[in-house]
Amino acid sequence: MAVLKIVAPVLIAVLAFYAYTWESFSEEMVRGKRVLVTGSSTGIGEQMAYEFAWMGAHLMLTARNETRLQKVVQNCLKLGAASASYVVSDMSDLASARNVVEETKKVLGGFDLLVLNHVGGKIGFGPYQGDMESVISSMTVNFFSYVQVTVSALSMLQESRGNIIVVSSISGMGRRLEAPQPK
Ligand SMILES: NC(=O)c1ccc[n+]([C@@H]2O[C@H](COP(=O)([O-])OP(=O)(O)OC[C@H]3O[C@@H](n4cnc5c(N)ncnc54)[C@H](OP(=O)(O)O)[C@@H]3O)[C@@H](O)[C@H]2O)c1
Repeated sequence: MAVLKIVAPVLIAVLAFYAYTWESFSEEMVRGKRVLVTGSSTGIGEQMAYEFAWMGAHLMLTARNETRLQKVVQNCLKLGAASASYVVSDMSDLASARNVVEETKKVLGGFDLLVLNHVGGKIGFGPYQGDMESVISSMTVNFFSYVQVTVSALSMLQESRGNIIVVSSISGMGRRLEAPQPK
């Protein structure tokens, strides 16, 4: 046990250092690559689009708000994106999710990087109240559309030996559906 008390912290420190020094995205890795970022009209997706833009990627952005997407596209071009386009989509509709991939193929000819980031639907953070409509809405936007986009893009990603990045949340991993307690 005493040995474990010494070995465990040392092991954690070594792993933390290894993770910290792990190669992250560099300009060389991203320049000229074709990148689709979902949920890129605002928030983390918008900021990731800007990072890829200044590294010189070809960008395809998608979300529902067209005005915001147009603004983000302009910003990406100013920052140095090799190209930037958008396709409006509502991920609560899986046909719309498929269309994002078709449009990316049409405009960019394929993918090198698929960044799945959007989050939405009727999500409540309170106790589960038995509302199946919100469960279906949340699962469609936050899970099934991720699967749909991935499946539709897979052959192109295999062809380019590309990568998939999934942005998630700790609340998506372990949310307990508890019935409300009587007061
Ligand atoms: N912010 C945080 O503190 C935090 C923490 C942990 C993890 N995350 C994760 O980071 C990711 C991004 O979060 P965020 O905070 O940047 O979220 P956000 O600011 O709410 O942005 C969500 C994005 O998803 C799009 N979106 C929402 N519903 C959509 C739909 N039905 N169809 C297509 N696009 C839709 C939104 O655009 P439109 O409204 O234009 O469609 C927007 O671009 C999520 O996966 C989230 O779980 C965030």
